[in-house]
Amino acid sequence: MTDSRDRPVAVVIGGGNGIGEAVCRLMHERGWRVAVADIDADAAQRVAGDLETAAFAFDVADEAAVGDAAERIEGEVGPVAALVVAAAVFQDIVPTEDLPIAEWERILRIDLTGTLIANKAFGRRMVARRRGSIVNIASIAALGSMPAEAYGTSKAGVVHLTKNLAGEWGRAGVRVNAVSPGSTLVPRVEERLKSGRYAADPGDFTALGRMVRPMEVAEVVEFLASDRSSAMTGNNLVVDAGWHIAATWAQFGGVRDF
Ligand SMILES: NC(=O)c1ccc[n+]([C@@H]2O[C@H](COP(=O)([O-])OP(=O)(O)OC[C@H]3O[C@@H](n4cnc5c(N)ncnc54)[C@H](O)[C@@H]3O)[C@@H](O)[C@H]2O)c1
Repeated sequence: MTDSRDRPVAVVIGGGNGIGEAVCRLMHERGWRVAVADIDADAAQRVAGDLETAAFAFDVADEAAVGDAAERIEGEVGPVAALVVAAAVFQDIVPTEDLPIAEWERILRIDLTGTLIANKAFGRRMVARRRGSIVNIASIAALGSMPAEAYGTSKAGVVHLTKNLAGEWGRAGVRVNAVSPGSTLVPRVEERLKSGRYAADPGDFTALGRMVRPMEVAEVVEFLASDRSSAMTGNNLVVDAGWHIAATWAQFGGVRDF
């Protein structure tokens, strides 16, 4: 049996729930040693406990805390080969003219600046070792338009940040890619669906006629984190069950039904 110390180390920030949790579970199954990181210490511990690995609790928007955590993770778990940033918060749907600036700044701070902070803290170590792969989770909100100004702007920023860092760190052997999920059936979204907080089933607007499953996003994340995608950097891979391409069919009555 392989010693767990031989496994490459992956850090998943936002690994305590939803898509990040699915990424932790799949990466563990595929032979990675996963450090589960989340602002919610209990959630991180629950996932890490299942995988018999280490949990780390910190706020991705706190630069000093992320720097300390990077130091600890590298010391206690090992040199980080892959970083996945899946931590984010969502915003209430309000008319933009009623969106408080404090709320805009809170969302940008966590979703965009937090991603930069994590990329800086772990990326500098990867650059020094001349090896590493970073996967930032963006969203279809980055591609189109939706009534979530701060969230969409943050995610568009995450895609651009990803391209910039891919250009900057490529010659140091560090790849940086993004994954943009469509509506994904994580427990948080399931609750919203049950409580009738969506005007319609998001799956109705996709080519495949359904929402995305967390493991389907995790598959693409793990691919980008691994050497199987060794010539890919600066990409934003969309995992949306065909939401984006189905939009233009709406004026023709929607995609063909079977
Ligand atoms: N679920 C979807 O439909 C969907 C669609 C598109 C994009 N995304 C993106 O996928 C990623 C994961 O979303 P999800 O749906 O799994 O959400 P989720 O709420 O289920 O999980 C997010 C995790 O991030 C953690 N987190 C939040 N703020 C944090 C902070 N400041 N520091 C550290 N951890 C923090 C939370 O505690 C939680 O465990 C996010 O980037 C989100 O924007 C999700």
